[in-house]
Amino acid sequence: MVPMKEKTVYLKSFGCQMNDADSEQYLGILGRAGYKPTDTPDGADLILLNTCAIRAKAEQKVFSELGRLREYKLRDPSVKIGVAGCVAQSMGKGILSREPAVDFVLGTGSAGDLPEMIRQAETGRRATSLLAKREFDLDTARLESVRTSLYHAYVPIIYGCDNHCAYCVVPGVRGPERSRPLEGVLREIGDLAERGYREITLLGQNVNSYGKKDNENIMFSDLLHAVCKIPGIDRIRFVTSHPGDLSEEVVHTMASLGPICEALHLPVQSGSDRILSAMRRGYTRAHYLQRIALLREAMPGIALSTDIIVGFPGESDGDFEETLSLIGDVGFDSLFGFVFSPRPGTPASELPRRVQETVAQRRLQAVLDLQREISARRNNALVGSLVEILVEGRNPRDPQGLTGRTRTNKIVHFQGDVSLTGTLVAVRITEGRPNCLIGVQP
Ligand code: 5AD
Ligand code: SF4
Repeated sequence: MVPMKEKTVYLKSFGCQMNDADSEQYLGILGRAGYKPTDTPDGADLILLNTCAIRAKAEQKVFSELGRLREYKLRDPSVKIGVAGCVAQSMGKGILSREPAVDFVLGTGSAGDLPEMIRQAETGRRATSLLAKREFDLDTARLESVRTSLYHAYVPIIYGCDNHCAYCVVPGVRGPERSRPLEGVLREIGDLAERGYREITLLGQNVNSYGKKDNENIMFSDLLHAVCKIPGIDRIRFVTSHPGDLSEEVVHTMASLGPICEALHLPVQSGSDRILSAMRRGYTRAHYLQRIALLREAMPGIALSTDIIVGFPGESDGDFEETLSLIGDVGFDSLFGFVFSPRPGTPASELPRRVQETVAQRRLQAVLDLQREISARRNNALVGSLVEILVEGRNPRDPQGLTGRTRTNKIVHFQGDVSLTGTLVAVRITEGRPNCLIGVQP
């Protein structure tokens, strides 16, 4: 047999954790095809971008990146460039005409076609795969993922979304909801546990809908119970939850199972009922606040985070004030704020009464300023407490220090020996900053 020449792939991932998980899976599939990952495009045989389409800015980033990467292909025409992920799915062949350096376009359901796309590119054909046409063994591909961390891993449990929020491209680019059979999820987590992984984040656009469309009668809380029985996994998290689908049962399950972390990302988007309705979110401010009360009652130390969109069409000063007051009332630990971006094909992109960009930017700044104060206050309140940290490694800003995360998903910097990486340690908090905590080992 002629030995296969080892090739290299430079993969850059944009967007959410689902994209990160897909990227790790692409690297697994590429590994089988003889490609090793490299962290620079310089000298790579294959350049693959895994893209995000959530806001116009995310999409623009892809094309400016492609503009830069084109140089590598000009220098060496044998270099192949592929575009995968959400922009690939939404623009399809349009990417090939917009950017001549791109060899192939791989949609969100087409991971199994990746080797075929490369083969086509090698014969000089530009190809597009927007559907999983080939038989594709997801569970095997997941097991072969090349993971970024040795201690923490992402495990997708549900793909796509049926919610159709008025502003969102996700149902369009990720398709309808499909739950992954429990058996494969458990096999993947069992395999990770055997390899020493200690923390798992279950992924989905709407994890609370797990199992709802299946006849198997295994719901999200059943999955949580099953996952918590796997020995060796100390911490389990999940994203993203929809406030309309977060059931009391799930809240009580979270509170009753030891490995499930006291942290929840629960995107509210707006504090105004009028805007929530225009966004087609399917819940009210009162319902959201009631879910928060339920969570805090069940888990008093829980850390809560959210997403806010400002400048949705028709958002008045009064509506925006309601968003600020909700942020104040809840007292989130952290928050991601965005200016509304009209996305092609979404109902909100057709709405009248657009909010001026300057007004929207001012509102975003007000949200971020308010949250900074609240985060600092909440983090300060932790000074003196003893917390459990999963050590992630050296602090990138302080080569002598270590960085880890609490169960509540807060970043903690402290001094310690690098051999602690990947272990759980107790740390006493000495300082609370808006975006992190400082601590010492007692
Ligand atoms: N414009 C701005 N923000 C958006 N998000 C989703 N779609 C849009 C859009 N069109 C935000 C939401 C969501 C997060 C992932 O991105 O807040 O929760
Ligand atoms: Fe971006 Fe949504 Fe695609 Fe994730 S699923 S990469 S957030 S468009």
